Amino acid sequence: MSNRLNLMAPEIRENPYPFFAELRRNAPVCQVDPGGMWAVSRYEDVVHVLKTPQLFSSEGMRLATEAPWLGRSNPVSDSMLFLDPPKHGRLRALVSRAFTPATLARLEPGIRARAGELVTELLNRRSVDFVEDFAMPVPASVIGSLLGLDPSLHSRFKLWANDIIAIGGTRPDDTRQQEQCRRTVVEMETYLQEVLDNRRAALGDDMVSELIRARVDGESLTNEELMGFLFLLLLAGLETTTNLLSHSARMLAAHPDVMARLRADPSLIPRFIEEVLRYEPPSQATLRVCTRDVVLGGVNLPRGAPVLLLQASATHDERQFPDPERFNIDREGQQSLPFGHGIHFCLGAPLARLEARVALDVLLARVGRVELRTERVDWVPSLTIRGAKTLPVEVWPA
Ligand code: HEM
Repeated sequence: MSNRLNLMAPEIRENPYPFFAELRRNAPVCQVDPGGMWAVSRYEDVVHVLKTPQLFSSEGMRLATEAPWLGRSNPVSDSMLFLDPPKHGRLRALVSRAFTPATLARLEPGIRARAGELVTELLNRRSVDFVEDFAMPVPASVIGSLLGLDPSLHSRFKLWANDIIAIGGTRPDDTRQQEQCRRTVVEMETYLQEVLDNRRAALGDDMVSELIRARVDGESLTNEELMGFLFLLLLAGLETTTNLLSHSARMLAAHPDVMARLRADPSLIPRFIEEVLRYEPPSQATLRVCTRDVVLGGVNLPRGAPVLLLQASATHDERQFPDPERFNIDREGQQSLPFGHGIHFCLGAPLARLEARVALDVLLARVGRVELRTERVDWVPSLTIRGAKTLPVEVWPA
């Protein structure tokens, strides 16, 4: 039996931070389970890997999205997240055209209106599931309107995202889950292809139309690249932002003094968001694969070795953040590492910050207290994402 740390063990999923601290202290680059990946836990090493794509490739991340039982490739693997230079740069340049500050500014009134409706509903019901009733519908409506998707489908996005994320981790004997994932890929692809065809026939001012129009050196995105990007947006834009909002609610419940400060001075909300991102990063880890034999943190890694970058450990690294286990909204500056670093730095970071700021602003104006109705959080079983499956809370009007 191996004595490697299994990062999927229930006690680690429950609270990974003491285990990460131990890794940073005693084995900052070491093999872990599942799969014998090399976990990298110190801030400095994580940043080094992220800014050296020639030695640490993103193409290897396909390991986490492909499965033989799928019988085909997962469309999300065609997105830029899984590409290295020079292919990555071309795709990113094309897609960035559609992520302008003007696009963001157009979204703000819709986010405010949707958050307002949801807060009214929370206060009417008092006892709610914060994930289902607030944290998920806010980003779902943003992605929906960004892409110009039918609002009646918004509640399906989360189910879609869950199944696509589950593909890499589904057990070979779990034929029910496999069948569901296969059905979801076909359902999403059929629907998104219809969206693409309709936009091609009549271009509008939504993001899909922008993506179809985008040209770099006369080249446009292929249908496969467009599809990969739409799949990526639904995953990257939904799950992470949902988790940022649900972690925020847990922090408000755990720190009523902080909640009172934010209510008295909403200009502190962005600081609160930065500290939630650092303290409980929604994207906990990302993967790379060594393109040749390399030495990292004094450890020899062979070519082809999978490297698991523990961003959630890096943002608790005491060398970078004094007193890291304390939730403290008075820390200075923005937290960029929760959104990655280098060429794959999150394209949606300004959007995620905008969504969280507006949604929390609306919530805090009308909600005076949030109480958790459970001692234990039921966490999504994932190495890379940290999020509550459900978050039963009681909300009290201001
Ligand atoms: C709190 C919310 C979010 C977090 C914590 C987050 C985190 C991340 C991280 C860590 C990466 C880099 C992964 C890597 O290097 O392997 C990334 C990439 C990306 N994110 Fe986000 N993200 C969030 C929200 C969003 C939103 C709202 C969108 C879009 C609607 C988005 C779109 C993307 C895209 C397109 C990439 C790929 C960039 C590239 O490969 O060049 N993300 N995100």
